[in-house]
Amino acid sequence: MSARDTGKRPGASGKPWGGRFQQATDPTVERFSASVAFDRALARYDIRGSIAHARMLAHSGLIEAADRDAIVSGLEAIGADIDAGRFAFSDRLEDIHMNVESALRERIGEAAGRLHTGRSRNDQVATDLALYLRDAAEAAVQGLIQLRGVVLERAREHVGTVLPGYTHLQRAQPVRLAHHWLAFFEMWTRDADRFRDLRARLSRAPLGSGALAGSTLPLDRAHTADALGFEGPSRNSMDAVASRDVALEFLSAAAICMVHLSRLSEELVIWSSSEFGFVELADAYSTGSSLMPQKKNPDVPELVRGKSGRAIGNLVSLLTVQKGLPLTYNRDLQEDKEPIFDSARTLGDSLEVTAGALATLRVDVERMREAAGDPMLLATDLAEALVRQDVPFREAHEVVGKLVAHCVEGGLDLGALSRDELRRFHPAFPAGAGELLALERALEERALVGGTARARVEEAIAEAQERLDREQEESA
Ligand code: ARG
Repeated sequence: MSARDTGKRPGASGKPWGGRFQQATDPTVERFSASVAFDRALARYDIRGSIAHARMLAHSGLIEAADRDAIVSGLEAIGADIDAGRFAFSDRLEDIHMNVESALRERIGEAAGRLHTGRSRNDQVATDLALYLRDAAEAAVQGLIQLRGVVLERAREHVGTVLPGYTHLQRAQPVRLAHHWLAFFEMWTRDADRFRDLRARLSRAPLGSGALAGSTLPLDRAHTADALGFEGPSRNSMDAVASRDVALEFLSAAAICMVHLSRLSEELVIWSSSEFGFVELADAYSTGSSLMPQKKNPDVPELVRGKSGRAIGNLVSLLTVQKGLPLTYNRDLQEDKEPIFDSARTLGDSLEVTAGALATLRVDVERMREAAGDPMLLATDLAEALVRQDVPFREAHEVVGKLVAHCVEGGLDLGALSRDELRRFHPAFPAGAGELLALERALEERALVGGTARARVEEAIAEAQERLDREQEESA
C-alpha cells in the first residue's frame, strides 16, 4: 500500500475525510461533486493562502517553526510542479484544496496534517476567490487600457473622417469618425473604473472565519490578512464564508464590458457589409467561407458579439445560484467558479482580439463621406438657422418638415435649394441651402462641450490621452 492508500485521507480508499465515514463515496457522486477539473485555476492563490496561514500558525505558537518550514517549502515545491504542468491532479481528491493538501502529505509526511489547523475549506476557498478576483479585475483593467490606447490612436487618425451618425440605424446627422470611436473610449473608461471599484470590496481577508463561526484557537487574523495584501480581516465570519456578491460585481462588470464590445462588433459587422462598405477587416481578423470563394467573413467581431451572451449568462447563473441559499456556506457555492473563470477568460480574449481587429481595420474614408454627404442629414441645421432668426423651434421644425416632403415628392436636392426657394416656405431663411448646409460648417457649428466640432474632438483626444497616461503610470 502506498501512502495514498491508508484510508486516512480521501482518494485511493475512496473514503471521505476523517473517521466519520465507513463507506466509500459512490463513484458517480465523486465525479458529480469534484471541482478540481476547474478550480485548479485557483492553485496559485490556494498555495499563497496556505503559506500565509502556516506562517501565521507558527507566529501564533500553534505549530513549531520546523513544521512551518517543512509546510512552506513543500507548498512552494507543489506550486512549482503545478506551474510546470508536472502536478498530477486527481478527481478523487475532489477539489484543489484537497489535491494540494494530499500532495503536501506525500512530500513532507505528518507535518502536513497541521496545516489545516483553525481553517475550513469554506474560509480557504473564499480567500482564494478574493485573491483570484483581485488579479482578474486587474487583468481586465490592463486589457481595457490596451484597447483604449488602440481606439484613441484610430480616433486621432480619423478626426477629419466624416460619416453619418445613426439613430434607429437611419442616417441622422454627420459626425467625425473620431467622435464616434471616442464614444467607445468613454464606455471602456467606465468599464475600467468598475473593475477598479470592486477592489475596494475585496479588501477583507476571510481566513480565520473557519467553517462559519471562527475558531477557538488563538489565530492572528491580522497577520494572514496583512501577508496576503488585505487591509484587514473580514468583519463577520458568517458573511465571509457565505457571500459571493463581489464575484457578482465582477461578473456584472464583465457582462457590461462585453456588451460594449458587442455593440462595437455589431458595427464592424454591418460596416463591413457591401451595403455599408465603410470598413474592411484585416485578413488576420476575418475568415473565408468553406463554400463561397468570394466571401470574407467578420467572424472575429461576430464571435465577440456571440460571446457576450456567455458573460450575461454567467452573471444570471451566479445570481440564481445564490438567491435561495440560507446562511452560511452551501455546496451550491461551488457553482460560482465556472462562471467566474469563463467570464474572465472570455473578457480577456475579447478585449485582445477587439484591439487587434480595430488596430488593423481599413477605413473607407470616401465611402463614409459620401454617405454623410446627403443634405437631408442637415435638415435640423436648417431649422436651427430659422431659430437663430428668432423663429420658434416648433414652427421651424414644421417648416423644414414641409421642405423635406417637397424635395422627396419632387425628387429635388435639398442642398441645392436657393434662398428664394427656401423663402417660399419661410421668409426668415437667411441664405440658400448650399451655404446653410455645408458639411464642414455643420460639423464646426456643433461646438458645444462633448460635440463633434474639430476643436472639441481634438480636446477630447488630448484629455483621453492624459487620462490613459495617468492610468498607465498608476498601474506601473
Ligand atoms: N470545492 C468547494 C467549493 O468550491 C470547497 C469548499 C468545500 N466546503 C465544504 N464544506 N464542502 O466551494
